[in-house]
Amino acid sequence: MAAARVAMWVACVLAMAAACQGRLRVGYYKRKCAPAEYVVRAVVGNAVRQNPGVGAGIVRMFFHDCFVQGCDASVLLDPTAANPQPEKLGPPNFPSLRGFEVIDAAKAAVEKACPGVVSCADIIAFAARDASFFLSGGGISYRIPAGRLDGRVSLANETLAFLPPPVFNLTQLVASFQAKGLDADDMVTLSGAHTIGRSHCSSFADRLSPPSDMDPGLAAALRSKCPASPNFTDDATVAQDAVTPDRMDRQYYRNVLDRKVLFDSDAALLASRQTAAMVARNAAARGRWERRFARAMVKMGGIEVKTAANGEIRRMCRVVNE
Ligand code: HEM
Ligand SMILES: *[C@@H]1O[C@H](CO)[C@@H](O)[C@H](O)[C@H]1NC(C)=O
Ligand SMILES: *[C@@H]1O[C@H](CO)[C@@H](O)[C@H](O)[C@H]1NC(C)=O
Ligand SMILES: *[C@@H]1O[C@H](CO)[C@@H](O)[C@H](O)[C@H]1NC(C)=O
Repeated sequence: MAAARVAMWVACVLAMAAACQGRLRVGYYKRKCAPAEYVVRAVVGNAVRQNPGVGAGIVRMFFHDCFVQGCDASVLLDPTAANPQPEKLGPPNFPSLRGFEVIDAAKAAVEKACPGVVSCADIIAFAARDASFFLSGGGISYRIPAGRLDGRVSLANETLAFLPPPVFNLTQLVASFQAKGLDADDMVTLSGAHTIGRSHCSSFADRLSPPSDMDPGLAAALRSKCPASPNFTDDATVAQDAVTPDRMDRQYYRNVLDRKVLFDSDAALLASRQTAAMVARNAAARGRWERRFARAMVKMGGIEVKTAANGEIRRMCRVVNE
């Protein structure tokens, strides 16, 4: 196997392929596997139609993949005897992260068309793009460069080190995005993903009793849905955006302005004049956030991309190749 990886590395250097340098390209699979993006979109479209929640899960999965070991599908690896604690079992991911079966289905469909060609990392990037497209009713529509390879390292203890928790203040949020090459603007824009999906009560329970800057009406509604002290076995879920829960739109920013958001990290976007102005602009202008979100997703998709020296194209997304 080591020999095969060396051969791939040599072939890739000779061919000056994009994957050698970790450089990504729009239309990367056009020659290698023409139906790849179409096949992923079809699988994701079906899944999102049946359950919009898995679309939210996949958008979040892309973020959680990219912030830990780069966009390399490390989040997909199942525990094994050799690696009993992969990212998937880290507290930010387990048990809340969802949509894994959709990625499996997309990979299976793509493998049928072109075995061994399309990385799981690219499938996550395409699937997050496609989920955004469907959940926004086509309002979020973009091309995303591809050519990512799949990583072989996945450690649960790295999730808490790199994924910001919901109690972070603005300074901490900006720092955690900056550590991954994203700026405050990207952070404000990408937080808009909290326009869809759900949260477990445990993620915001501390904000339901005074003193809290949460809108009292929302706090009361959430208290009625959540256990008094949620724990692992008793942890209901509620919508992130109570107004348009399954629609990716700029409503999130109106919710921030109205203090009708779940997390400290959402409320914190009003903590500086600069970020509060971004929130207000996104809330006000039709189409603005959607365009910026597309751009920020592409930027996030370039984080710490693996090359042939440290990556591979997995045959199955849940396990590294032999
Ligand atoms: C800015 C820092 C962020 C924090 C602190 C944060 C935190 C959280 C938390 C605590 C949840 C609820 C998990 C649960 O209890 O089930 C959640 C859900 C979600 N997050 Fe974030 N998040 C952040 C940024 C992002 C970004 C950048 C994206 C994607 C671009 C994203 C997409 C989502 C989505 C779609 C959900 C709903 C998931 C579902 O319904 O399964 N978040 N986030
Ligand atoms: C995570 O655990 C691995 C081994 O299990 C260790 O080598 C590494 O230093 C740890 N990383 C962090 C961020 O704690
Ligand atoms: C944010 O949190 C950090 C760590 O708790 C703290 O040192 C800092 O003062 C806080 N910043 C603001 C603006 O509250
Ligand atoms: C979780 O909370 C419920 C009630 O809120 C309680 O009955 C149960 O014992 C708790 N479980 C754990 C593991 O603490």
